[in-house]
Amino acid sequence: MTILRLLIVSLLVSQIFAGQGAEVICNGTGCSNCPIPPTSNGILSWETGKKDPTKCLISSCPLSYAPINGTTDIYCQSCPGIPFRGVPAIFANSAGDACVPSSETCGIGRTANTWNYLDCYMCNGKDAPLAKSDQSVCLANRIPGDDVSCAGTGCASPENCPTPPTSTPALSWMTGTGSGKCAISSCPPYGTPINGATDLYCQSCPGTPNGNIKAVFANNSGNACVASTRTCGKSRTVNTWTNADCLACNGTNNKYAKSDKSGCQSTAPSSFSFYIYSNSMIILSSILFLITFLF
Ligand SMILES: *[C@@H]1O[C@H](CO)[C@@H](O)[C@H](O)[C@H]1NC(C)=O
Ligand SMILES: *[C@@H]1O[C@H](CO)[C@@H](O)[C@H](O)[C@H]1NC(C)=O
Ligand SMILES: *[C@@H]1O[C@H](CO)[C@@H](O)[C@H](O)[C@H]1NC(C)=O
Ligand SMILES: *[C@@H]1O[C@H](CO)[C@@H](O)[C@H](O)[C@H]1NC(C)=O
Repeated sequence: MTILRLLIVSLLVSQIFAGQGAEVICNGTGCSNCPIPPTSNGILSWETGKKDPTKCLISSCPLSYAPINGTTDIYCQSCPGIPFRGVPAIFANSAGDACVPSSETCGIGRTANTWNYLDCYMCNGKDAPLAKSDQSVCLANRIPGDDVSCAGTGCASPENCPTPPTSTPALSWMTGTGSGKCAISSCPPYGTPINGATDLYCQSCPGTPNGNIKAVFANNSGNACVASTRTCGKSRTVNTWTNADCLACNGTNNKYAKSDKSGCQSTAPSSFSFYIYSNSMIILSSILFLITFLF
């Protein structure tokens, strides 16, 4: 009878807990510095690492379908959720009720401009599943673009503003918030295919910046707004092409600036002249050395 009762109890316990967590690094020394464990069916607690006593682990992780509240990234490293396409679920979602397969933290420590639609969905669910076109935040709805100056007065297209890129749903210009300005009514979320982008469009719905270089210029294919320092188009100041701008504007097939910076090319410019120069410098210094040595 007692054995049967024990068996039932242990069966019940094994229904609540799914075994020991992975060993993780908490703040400072000792596991009292670990974040407060989430609340769940059973009580969750930190204990000193078994393999590495400088680390900590959750003694018994809840089963993946058990309700949970108050998750943190460190907790999720110890008791991960269900992975997706090989991405481990080691970050706490915004609601704190799951550990999710995001590529980075859902919290404030996240690298700037790294939100993609998958991470927005994983972190925020249906509350904010869309990544803004510049990947800076997750949004619940599409939002108007930034103000730009089109030609003349009015925001008609193509009379004043250039024809918007084709996309689904269709894009259109509207009167901006500033006086005399125009804006794209609703920028497509990050990752939405666009075709026929122009610099003005890219100023209204920028792409992902590269550090502090804003992605406000249309690339050569017109399928992206890229972080080039100047326009990718014909109106570019002559001889200003750099490797970084060639890569952004013209893609990996044409990622090298010509040596005179007049355009882009597929191969690195030859450093032949540099070799001649450095070789002649070596010869010259050898002669000078010989002269000093001999006289
Ligand atoms: C680590 O502990 C220090 C001192 O208590 C605190 O200021 C800091 O915010 C903690 N960091 C984390 C990630 O918990
Ligand atoms: C989660 O915890 C917070 C704060 O402890 C509480 O306000 C909230 O109601 C809890 N949510 C659920 C679903 O239990
Ligand atoms: C921009 O256009 C270039 C070439 O025209 C292409 O190789 C590149 O992939 C495009 N960039 C993006 C982000 O799609
Ligand atoms: C970009 O590449 C295309 C061909 O792929 C080429 O015609 C164009 O001149 C290139 N742009 C620059 C600035 O070199």
